[in-house]
Amino acid sequence: MDYGRLSAGLRSLIADSHPLSAISNAASFIFNELQDVSWVGFYISDGKDLILGPFQGKPACVRISEGRGVCGRSFTSGKTILVDDVRTFEGHISCDPDSRSEIVVPIFSFGKPVAVLDIDSKTTGRFSDDDRTGIEILAKIIEQQSGESFSSLV
Ligand code: SME
Repeated sequence: MDYGRLSAGLRSLIADSHPLSAISNAASFIFNELQDVSWVGFYISDGKDLILGPFQGKPACVRISEGRGVCGRSFTSGKTILVDDVRTFEGHISCDPDSRSEIVVPIFSFGKPVAVLDIDSKTTGRFSDDDRTGIEILAKIIEQQSGESFSSLV
């Protein structure tokens, strides 16, 4: 995957948009550009739980306690979590029984996590280290454009 091209496309797509529109279009862009992904979206912290935000894919869990599931653990640790096989991740929250692999990247504002970008695939081991690096860059672009506004959306 050419993440350089994707980064440039995402940056220009969300420039000058309202933050809610920016992250909505970001979810759609990533969902449509990446191959073999079944769900792309954001969970946003309300200070207690992670609340389902803009996404593409099947309907999903609406509220995740911080620290729970892949999303909650990524949020509280402030680190990307890449899961090759969700069946081996203790505490994985299954919104879609067909989901097999997942990557979750935290999004920060003033050094503190405020949301996560979650991407799922029906293929085991879908996300490589190159994907991790590329998706972290995409998350940074979103963070630069909208990071300070996530909290005001929930
Ligand atoms: N699997 C996630 C829950 C969110 S859905 O994948 C959309 C988790 O374990 O946190």
